[in-house]
Amino acid sequence: MRTLLTNCQSPDGIKNIIIRDGIIDYIGSDLPEFDEKLDCANLIVLPGMIDPHVHVRDLEMTYKESWETASNAAIAGGITTIMDMPNTKPATTNFFGLNAKRKAAEKSKVNYYIHLGATTNNLNELRSILEGNPEDIIGIKLFLAGSSSNEVVEDPKKLEKIFLLAKEFDKVVLVHSEMQSILNKWQKLALVQSIEFHNSIRHREAAINGTRLMLDIAQKTGAKLYICHVSTREEIDLIRTAKRISTNIFSEVTPHHLILNETILKQAGNFGKVNPPLRTEADNEALLEAIKDRTIDCLGTDHAPHAVEEKRQEYSKAPSGFPGLETAIPQTYFLVKDEYISLRRYSELISCNAAYVFGLNNVGELKAGFKADLIILDPGFEEKVIPELFKTKAKYSPFEGVIGHTKVKYTFVNGEKMLPFRRGDVRY
Ligand code: DOR
Ligand code: ZN
Repeated sequence: MRTLLTNCQSPDGIKNIIIRDGIIDYIGSDLPEFDEKLDCANLIVLPGMIDPHVHVRDLEMTYKESWETASNAAIAGGITTIMDMPNTKPATTNFFGLNAKRKAAEKSKVNYYIHLGATTNNLNELRSILEGNPEDIIGIKLFLAGSSSNEVVEDPKKLEKIFLLAKEFDKVVLVHSEMQSILNKWQKLALVQSIEFHNSIRHREAAINGTRLMLDIAQKTGAKLYICHVSTREEIDLIRTAKRISTNIFSEVTPHHLILNETILKQAGNFGKVNPPLRTEADNEALLEAIKDRTIDCLGTDHAPHAVEEKRQEYSKAPSGFPGLETAIPQTYFLVKDEYISLRRYSELISCNAAYVFGLNNVGELKAGFKADLIILDPGFEEKVIPELFKTKAKYSPFEGVIGHTKVKYTFVNGEKMLPFRRGDVRY
């Protein structure tokens, strides 16, 4: 079966695309033979988003999200590859946790990879896992602070060993760089405990110092470092400087740190509680500049679903994080519409750069011979975020009611049209 997508506005201009057997068989200006056709006039075609930062949950936290609901949400959001974080129950920090995750992940409807989690004492077990040359393992995640069911590593000597292990097996070290010791210091000084002050309670110094430490260790060891959810302008300055001399340093922005800031918390309450916290407008501006000058490499959602009842608890009890798979592209497409970056640069930000950083082959670009993981956007269609319509189980969002800048009209995963969902598909 040859599926023709005609008149597609791609990062390289108007193109016709043939999808065959899950692969982009042709992309160009000719009109090759086809069996079925989709006219994409006035629509944008991009490589599907590769999201390096997703908390799928499942296992003992299936009530928050499962691989089935997370991958449905990914499809709805134009995300064709997800990389799952290890802070699950059981955690992906040993063979037992990995095997449980592998079994659960079989339900995924999108392509996926798994990040292992580093702890203070699992280096040998991680080594044994990596010695098996597993193709589904893509990175090692480190938390310098507690956030959601994760173990903390802060000792620089241990951290260095983890970086060296990652380097030996050519894996990426992903880091949540807020440092627990600094968070504790500021926590003690906090006079009020309230979501409106989350940004000062969970102080930016923790993220800045952690990022500085990570950059130092990456430069010392030469391991590939991916700094998750950069949230402050100080970190941006540090990363920008480090990147001038090091090619092994990469960084991520989330839609929420780019677009939202602490001023929404009065209204959003704990639905806007996330770690690192939403910061300030000056930080939003610095992140935008960093996208423009390539200090930031990738967009990651940090999709972190929790049950709505959990989020409704008081500030100190409500877990951090919210869903992001379905809002990421519609919310960030203003980058192209308002001409901050070109369509090509946007496709790098959401797809191609992640393929490069994590060493994925034949994906992340619209090229003959590449996987037919692609999305078709309708930039003429601007719709509000309505969480009740989400496919994720977490039906709330700090973007609730905000207008998106495009709609994901079709999502192809391995050549198969997954969005729109077929009639009769279950709504979760
Ligand atoms: O807000 C967050 N939620 N930050 C994290 O680092 C973890 C995440 C989660 O897993 O819920
Ligand atoms: Zn995360």
